[in-house]
Amino acid sequence: MQFSLVPGDAAAVSGELLVIPLFEGELVGDAAPAPLATADSALDGKLRAAATQEGFKGKVDQSFLIHTLGRLGGHERVLLLGLGNRARFQPEVLRLAAGRAAKTAQRLKATSIAFRVPATDRAEDVVRAVVEGLELGVYRFDKYKSAAREDKASPKLKSATIALPAGTPKSRALDDALTLGLKVAEAVNWARDLVNEPPNVVTPVRLAQAAQQAAKESGLQAEIGGRKEIERLNMGMFLGVTVGSVQEPRLIHLVYTPKNAKDAKRAPLALVGKAITFDSGGLSLKPTEGMVEMKTDMAGSAAVLAAMKVIGSVVKPPFPVHAFIGACENMPSGTAYKPGDILTARSGKTVEITNTDAEGRLVLGDMITWAGEHGPSAIIDLATLTGACMVALGNYIVGAFGDDDATVNSVLDAAKAAGEEMWRLPVSDMQKDALRSDVADMKNSGERWGGAINAALFLKEFVGDIPWVHLDIAGPSNSPKERGYLNKGATGSGARTLVELVRQRARDVDTLPEPKAQPAKAAKRAKAKTAR
Ligand code: BES
Ligand code: MN
Ligand code: ZN
Repeated sequence: MQFSLVPGDAAAVSGELLVIPLFEGELVGDAAPAPLATADSALDGKLRAAATQEGFKGKVDQSFLIHTLGRLGGHERVLLLGLGNRARFQPEVLRLAAGRAAKTAQRLKATSIAFRVPATDRAEDVVRAVVEGLELGVYRFDKYKSAAREDKASPKLKSATIALPAGTPKSRALDDALTLGLKVAEAVNWARDLVNEPPNVVTPVRLAQAAQQAAKESGLQAEIGGRKEIERLNMGMFLGVTVGSVQEPRLIHLVYTPKNAKDAKRAPLALVGKAITFDSGGLSLKPTEGMVEMKTDMAGSAAVLAAMKVIGSVVKPPFPVHAFIGACENMPSGTAYKPGDILTARSGKTVEITNTDAEGRLVLGDMITWAGEHGPSAIIDLATLTGACMVALGNYIVGAFGDDDATVNSVLDAAKAAGEEMWRLPVSDMQKDALRSDVADMKNSGERWGGAINAALFLKEFVGDIPWVHLDIAGPSNSPKERGYLNKGATGSGARTLVELVRQRARDVDTLPEPKAQPAKAAKRAKAKTAR
């Protein structure tokens, strides 16, 4: 979509659908903000009267739509959106509301929208939230619907004019907020496409191609490896999962390097994403109902790749950022790994397989080891890892795990700023017995209780001393229904938080501790191991 920013005092703002967000209590009395008062008087005071009559109070999730009968210039309709209590306002409220506005515009077949930004003390955050909400809100995944294909000629929401609050002039900072919001939302929509595409389309090879394309467009370096590379790197757990599938696995490594030579020498931030393009459960086969959603088991990698796009093209932090992704399918077959098998990880640890459906942690374990060899300042992994995390936190909240309080808190702060809800869960050693094996160093799946913690404990075995945060996005990666800017289906969960985390670390770059292992040394060590 095309976005333009106009100062609040601009007389005429064009757009078929005029959107006026309102806090609770602003509809009646003297509290009406200028855009509402103007629209109301053009409609002989009947806008406010009608909205009141219909029960609109400006509560969150409330909206009121009315045709202007040609009395409001080019605005065919006015949409009032509730923002709830002003004291409890967060940009996410506006992001969700803007998403609803975009969906309303689409249903009305409006091609343009005029959005009146409410007056707050956070103009930049608010502009960004509106842009993101609108762009995320117009997203649809209907390319496989014959009817939608035939509908291609019909009008589509093409442009949005964002009108700033009265008295707010345009500025470089606001333009930057608009650009960042648009880039973030486009990247998140790109991730949603990758996740929504069926598993016969997004195979490991196709995922790697998408990563390569993204890298090319965003100034990142991409290294893609196949089975040979995975064998050469002794990634025994990754190999174990992939051997049951006829789809070729892919090892994906994207690198953002800052232009400034001094910055390029800093310790990188490492991002790891789960990329099981289809999780049947393997020989520990999933029941049909659980299996149909398992095309989404690569959502962690999609979010990481989306974040890398924004990091390389807009954020450009003064430290390197690496993405490590092991992409494969988890399938049952005559060659598949079996319960009882013992796999040897890249780190040297041995793992008894007790459930082939606990495959994500195996691939991630090898990816985390590999990431750690690059001397990162921190490792953040995103994974649709456990159903247990969904049982604990539901469909909208990400589970965050890690021992390093400062790093975990920085991720939670970034999530809050990005409008993504996360909740910390413990990685308590108390549960460690769950992974004890009689025959190997550990087993891959423990008891049912505390399943999300057990998975995190397994990953922790590969982290060493590096500050690490594990984000279990099994629930939020997929929305069960339309909500705000979300549709039923893929959400791109986690991408916005990663972008925000990188922005925060860029701001604080001089206060971040450099890791104990110097990157150069670690790289040498990695090379030596590779050569083995
Ligand atoms: N990909 C699943 C987790 C999942 C479940 C993601 C539902 C999204 C929605 C993962 O590989 C898995 O199968 N986990 C098992 C682990 C168990 C076997 C220890 C689970 O959660 O049941
Ligand atoms: Mn599984
Ligand atoms: Zn899985």
